[in-house]
Amino acid sequence: MDGRAIGGKRTGFSERPIGIFDSGVGGLAVARNVARLAPHEPFIYLADSGRFPYGPRPLEEVRRFTGQALRFFAEKGTKLVIIACNTATAAALEEASRTSPMPVVGVIDPGSRAALATHRGPGWLAVLGTKATIDSGAYPRALRGLGFGGEAAGLACPAFVLAAESGEFEGPAVERMVADALGPLVGRRPSTVILGCTHFAPLARAISLALGPDVAIVDPAEETAREALDILRREGLEAPAAGGGSGAADAGAEPVYRFFTSGDPEHFRAVGGRLFGRPILHVETVDLERY
Ligand code: DGL
Repeated sequence: MDGRAIGGKRTGFSERPIGIFDSGVGGLAVARNVARLAPHEPFIYLADSGRFPYGPRPLEEVRRFTGQALRFFAEKGTKLVIIACNTATAAALEEASRTSPMPVVGVIDPGSRAALATHRGPGWLAVLGTKATIDSGAYPRALRGLGFGGEAAGLACPAFVLAAESGEFEGPAVERMVADALGPLVGRRPSTVILGCTHFAPLARAISLALGPDVAIVDPAEETAREALDILRREGLEAPAAGGGSGAADAGAEPVYRFFTSGDPEHFRAVGGRLFGRPILHVETVDLERY
């Protein structure tokens, strides 16, 4: 099957990029893991920063936004989409999996698997997320679906989302804010905490400081990247490794990473580079209402 132009080159189907989507910079934790585990895979990252945050919105609205993101990716010719946002996963993964022509991966199943691989009873399991994710009950449902019979309960931490998106990851003010928000957990500490919002990974240190070293903190990002890459492998959609083939994976060539935002590109570039772990040089803008 003929591909579309990526980075100005004609490419085959497997050389098409992965689409990675979040309401802002949080999903870059997943993008970073994709880049680490499969350095030859190109991707397009889409941040709907212009309509951030998703967490306080009704699921129906987040579902509509996610549909627009999927149509954007379809236009760009992606081969698989990662919804690197728990809120959008809770709102839209089921529908997206039914209707999308390409495989769609969310963060909640991989996050639940990662949590159960870490969790040691008899303590309970806490999920930190946005109000929409926690109210949806998606994590307890996914955990039960994986056979978990223990106690799981959620806590909405909307202030964490705002801090992370504005690039406030550490320091005394962040530590105080995190400790205040986690107050309800301190009296009855969980054994395991799932970072059920992709914006929470940069606050992991502050969360651990607030809860103490005995509480295991689980970030779904790596397991999500692994699930997406497993699907590509199974479907024969992996980009050719450097040294073979043409296009984005030419010998010695860097894979093409493109970054789009519906918000302020300069802000995304500055904060996003810290989360992606390498400089983001160029950010394109997109009007998602067009999709
Ligand atoms: N990063 C998103 C998540 O994982 C949500 C942040 C927001 O409220 O927009 O849920």
